Amino acid sequence: MSSHNEQQETWPEQPPSRKEMSRRQFLTYTLGGATAFMGAGTILPMVRFVVDPILHKKGAGDFIKVAEISKITEEPQEFTFELKQKDGWYDSTATLTAWIRKDAKGDIYALSPICKHLGCTVGWNNDKAHPDEYHCPCHGARYTKLGKNLEVAPKPLDQYKTKFDNGWVLLGDIVPNTVAREEA
Ligand code: FES
Repeated sequence: MSSHNEQQETWPEQPPSRKEMSRRQFLTYTLGGATAFMGAGTILPMVRFVVDPILHKKGAGDFIKVAEISKITEEPQEFTFELKQKDGWYDSTATLTAWIRKDAKGDIYALSPICKHLGCTVGWNNDKAHPDEYHCPCHGARYTKLGKNLEVAPKPLDQYKTKFDNGWVLLGDIVPNTVAREEA
């Protein structure tokens, strides 16, 4: 008898009945589902608020009318244009420059003026010792007419993506130079 009582005292609490389990589960699922639903309703608009402008970032991929094709010469010319950017909720306007020329075949291309050494701005024909080249005043980088790097800079000048429409040159994103290879 005493051993039976001892056994009863040391046994763990009886497991909940099937009915109690299902009620508990039902409450858990119901509360969990309701909380998740309300949470999603609150959080999703906030996530969209933050992410949407990033997904719709303006500026990248756009083409901008920059110069009339009839004005492009074999001598590089400097053209400036404005790029409206939307980064998140911040609107800004950047003024960009391109050196545009056409080659003997009439193909038009546009180079970025950003030096590939440390990012200063290059100019055309601005170094009397090295005429008909791009020259960077910061540390003396030199580039050919097609943007091929001759000295100091490790890479050719980048170029703009180019399109032509209704007599105009349109410029897009800045991409690695593909024309300088022709000067090998
Ligand atoms: S930044 Fe142009 S040479 Fe250094």
